[in-house]
Amino acid sequence: APPAQQAPLKLNFNAVAKSLDDVVTVPAGYTASVLYRLGDPIAAGVPAYANDGTDAPSTYDRRAGDHHDGMTFFGINASNKWDPAGASRGLLVMNHEAITPLFLHPAGQTVVGGVRTVADEVLREFYLHGVSVIEVNKVGNTWTYKQDSSFNRRVHTLTEMAFSGPAAKTDYLKTKYSTDGSKTRGTLNNCANGTTPWGTYLTCEENWAGYFRRIAANDNLKRSDKEKASFARYGVAGSDGLGRERWATVTPDTADNLYGRWNTEVIGATATDDFRNGHNTYGWVVEIDPFTPASTPKKRTALGRFGHEGACLGPVVVGKPLVWYMGDDSQNEYLYKFVSTKAWDAADIGGGIAAGDKYMNDGKLYVARFNADGTGNWLELKLGVNNITASYAGYAFADAADVVINARHAADAAGATKMDRPEWTAVNPKNGEVYLTLTNNGARTLKSTDAANPRYYNDPKGVAQAAQTGNPNGHIVRFADAGGDPAAVSFKWDVYLFGARSTASADVNLSNLAADNDFSSPDGMWFSHATAGLLWLQTDDGKYTDVTNCMMLAALPGKVGDGAARTITNVDGPTTATQATFVGKAPGTDGLRRFLVGPKDCEITGIAESGDGRALFVNIQHPGETTSAANITDPTKFGSHWPEGGTARPRSATVVITKNDGGLIGL
Ligand code: FEO
Ligand code: CA
Ligand code: CA
Ligand code: CA
Repeated sequence: APPAQQAPLKLNFNAVAKSLDDVVTVPAGYTASVLYRLGDPIAAGVPAYANDGTDAPSTYDRRAGDHHDGMTFFGINASNKWDPAGASRGLLVMNHEAITPLFLHPAGQTVVGGVRTVADEVLREFYLHGVSVIEVNKVGNTWTYKQDSSFNRRVHTLTEMAFSGPAAKTDYLKTKYSTDGSKTRGTLNNCANGTTPWGTYLTCEENWAGYFRRIAANDNLKRSDKEKASFARYGVAGSDGLGRERWATVTPDTADNLYGRWNTEVIGATATDDFRNGHNTYGWVVEIDPFTPASTPKKRTALGRFGHEGACLGPVVVGKPLVWYMGDDSQNEYLYKFVSTKAWDAADIGGGIAAGDKYMNDGKLYVARFNADGTGNWLELKLGVNNITASYAGYAFADAADVVINARHAADAAGATKMDRPEWTAVNPKNGEVYLTLTNNGARTLKSTDAANPRYYNDPKGVAQAAQTGNPNGHIVRFADAGGDPAAVSFKWDVYLFGARSTASADVNLSNLAADNDFSSPDGMWFSHATAGLLWLQTDDGKYTDVTNCMMLAALPGKVGDGAARTITNVDGPTTATQATFVGKAPGTDGLRRFLVGPKDCEITGIAESGDGRALFVNIQHPGETTSAANITDPTKFGSHWPEGGTARPRSATVVITKNDGGLIGL
């Protein structure tokens, strides 16, 4: 159990200054150590990572993936069981969202005539996406991962997965690989994460759509209007139709279609002859039992298919339903929640994937509507309600599987509120209130502003950047489900915080941010449990990066309704949009303070703590990612050399942060 907090929490560190240095900076009195980097070996006998593109592709299923992201620490006791209070030994489970291909091969990705010609390079990339499970231990004051732990595991794009819930074993999921629609291979673009009260990990498939090849001009001739509407709503097919990493272009294909499975075009006579439904097998929340390395991960279709950012578990109360809050991170997409039919029974702790079958296959999926008066409604996504019918003009829904697979269409039908890119959700353990980062939205127009997405303005811009309109710096909304009941169908909400440069005008810097806490593009967000009420905010920014690298801040937020109502005047002129309420943090207060700044060209994303809150694990994603492909032969032109320094290629990595006096982080 977390230590009881008697007095109000107070941040107790000196703010870290904004920085463009190629280092991780933490406050005086703290140490950040690199724990687990791209390519690090996680099995006995796998050599150390050379980091020059020469490591054997066949070893990558036993190496750390790339682009570390959402992450959970599961403490373990001496009997190798889950112990949430575990403070010196645990399983660190983390997502590897995507790759920076330039640094993975001898000279970047080999592409000849538009196609991938080196199958070994593609194999590396298959393995570098997905999830890591690693055992970590504290010896003295030093945390290390155990290279030969029997818990260590990589889940990647070749790992077999089962389907459960309304879409499992339906025609929509039938492929040549799984002719009854019961399974698929792999998980992809695993962004933020989630947990269950029985001790499993949830990984969430975000920008999966871009990996598929689909030449629409060919394929549209063979597709129904509904199928075309589904492709369009989910953005399947890149602009050149080849897919993000062009995996489908490798020839010849293998007998088990390792490359052809990324092509969604109709090729064979029936759906079990090809991968026309391959796109339907991605976009899900996936459950992994880290304590059972041989277990098969399960895609939970009851939680809907969209660009899943994360799945944050709501308050857990014996005898009450369980709830997960979920963002769909794309411009003008929605916030969702899933409420289980079954009430929580603590006897299911340790129940693994079978417990997931009990709580995550049957329940209600909702989408959020934010009203201008500070109230909101959860709209159920179910066939026959909220315009989700066969006669809905935007998409003729056929059955329950169709609704979860095309959840975005269902949410459109229900009339949900289009948000400024819903990223992470976080639940305040003190009061059950839920926070939602809205990272930015270049597609927000003056006309489309609303109370919950009220900004349209020009970012004052730095010298290196063009002006940005829409909502370039993002904001954070929070809400309280009615009566403190996570299963409630209404809520009240306000805006907690607006991102901005501290030098911006008062109409842009609405939260009165100062030099020690200004930020842009909030994304990762998580409440510490060991220090209940301490909120960590992480940024994934491209708008303020002329002044500072991405960062992490600590905050001590109050509650919904703390703010005073205020009308926003957007800088492009007066708008009809007014916001309900928001909290404007005064500079110099204890409410928000910068704790960490990352190396060049990175995103800070993913956070977890040891059971005692005295070690904080943070992921540094894609340092140096915008390095020009032409510069791969000239290390002096790499965008970053973190963490190795010198002339090394940059690597995504986990750092562990401890306080030098052994105390709680941030307090
Ligand atoms: Fe993968 Fe929405 O960040
Ligand atoms: Ca994110
Ligand atoms: Ca982001
Ligand atoms: Ca990223």
